[in-house]
Amino acid sequence: MSTANTTNPAGERETPGLPRHIAIILDGNGRWAKRRGLPRTAGHAAGAENFRKIATYCKNIGVEYLTVYAFSTENWKRPEDEVRTIMRLLGRYLHEAIDTMEKDHIRMKVLGDVQGLSPELQALVARTDEISERYEGFQANICLNYGGRSEIVQAARRYAAALAAGQAEELTEEVFGGYLYSAGIPDPDLLIRPGGEQRVSNFLLWQCAYAEFYFTDVLWPDFDTAELDKAIAAYQARDRRYGGVKNP
Ligand code: IPE
Ligand code: IPE
Ligand code: MG
Repeated sequence: MSTANTTNPAGERETPGLPRHIAIILDGNGRWAKRRGLPRTAGHAAGAENFRKIATYCKNIGVEYLTVYAFSTENWKRPEDEVRTIMRLLGRYLHEAIDTMEKDHIRMKVLGDVQGLSPELQALVARTDEISERYEGFQANICLNYGGRSEIVQAARRYAAALAAGQAEELTEEVFGGYLYSAGIPDPDLLIRPGGEQRVSNFLLWQCAYAEFYFTDVLWPDFDTAELDKAIAAYQARDRRYGGVKNP
């Protein structure tokens, strides 16, 4: 796998090497379980386990950031027992992840409306933030109670409050980006959606302005490291022009 990025002298166009930041919409858990005659919740457990494998692989091959969509602001519409099981799995997952972070020096950040989560989950999120401050290197971001539009609205509200308090800089794209949950994290280079749907479902609307999209019918619990290699190879065959022209 090629890992070098080639940038033209103007720095505007590049033949992509290894994506620095990969974002994944973790979709297809329910259908994966249904095909096996299992309850949908079994698919969420398999999906959580797969996240662990893919995150470790990303770290090992030198990807700097992995951002996954685990629970959207719209997912509260699901049956109560499914939501309850997902929240319980997330709690268990974060708890175990805290041990891994300390052992492997991994940074992990939760992006989303954390205040809408249970006090137990909020405490785990605070703990992951605290640990992350101690380390550098690979960072996994988990989008929880996340919606792209609500992220933009909360950013606008916080900017307006800072402005009213006389503490805001002039508004530019860069300044505004600093009010998003993803402040300080570079934009995703590659956005992967397993599970067969070809839509963005309110994920990283601001940040994916120039991401390369990759869709596959493979369901998330079956999306293994070989599938990730395929997605990266597809990305490396793209020509990122950022609105420029190929041979001026
Ligand atoms: C993604 O899998 C997980 C969440 C949205 C929480 P789904 O639960 O959406 O699985 P499908 O799309 O119904 O198969
Ligand atoms: C997107 O998947 C949200 C997450 C994976 C967390 P959904 O299954 O909720 O999306 P739709 O309903 O197919 O758009
Ligand atoms: Mg789905």
